[in-house]
Amino acid sequence: MLSTTAISREMLVAICKLKQTHWNHPIESQLAWFSSHVAPDDAHILAEAHGEIVGYVRLPSVAALLDGVACRAWGISTVIVSPDLRGQNVGQELVRIATAEMQRSPLKPLGVLQCSRGLVPFYARAGWLIFPGVLKCRKDDVLTEFIRDECAMVYPGVHHVHQDSSLILLTSESF
Ligand SMILES: CC(C)(COP(=O)(O)OP(=O)(O)OC[C@H]1O[C@@H](n2cnc3c(N)ncnc32)[C@H](O)[C@@H]1OP(=O)(O)O)[C@@H](O)C(=O)NCCC(=O)NCCS
Repeated sequence: MLSTTAISREMLVAICKLKQTHWNHPIESQLAWFSSHVAPDDAHILAEAHGEIVGYVRLPSVAALLDGVACRAWGISTVIVSPDLRGQNVGQELVRIATAEMQRSPLKPLGVLQCSRGLVPFYARAGWLIFPGVLKCRKDDVLTEFIRDECAMVYPGVHHVHQDSSLILLTSESF
């Protein structure tokens, strides 16, 4: 797992090129997005084969309130695997490692992600659950919907989530 500061320019370009295989924006726009959206305390996991970056996941870290109690939430964002290596468990391994890192962290973060309904089984295999409660985000006292995709999923770890849970991410950034 790497911190944002440990990502060299060369690695960043390789990550952006990999992301382009699915999110088809020009490289300059990918680089600009990284500078404006990625925080210094985000974590990054890379999969490499033959000296090339073939898989990537970003773990943004945000302050959160779960049922009114302050906690840390770690997102799983931008999971991407090189098209020619898809279907060979690289993605599953990235999610498994990301989840294990969360569990190891002394912050005991709650894992949070959003995905399409079709990808729910993919994350469920690594122990993630569809979040049964209400998920919002808040910045400057403005509360908004967080969900961009169809499903919110969580990896509760030490936290207890239930049907009536309210999770507020203290950020305006979707991930
Ligand atoms: C999603 C992604 C990371 C999976 O990586 P991968 O290495 O191919 O996945 P794995 O080989 O570990 O797992 C494959 C399983 O996930 C499922 N899966 C992969 N992509 C899927 C998708 N878009 N929708 C539904 N299921 C999908 C496969 O059907 C397969 O399930 P099976 O074993 O029952 O056949 C990869 O397809 C990718 O980079 N996609 C483009 C970017 C993306 O959509 N990222 C997710 C953002 S939330």
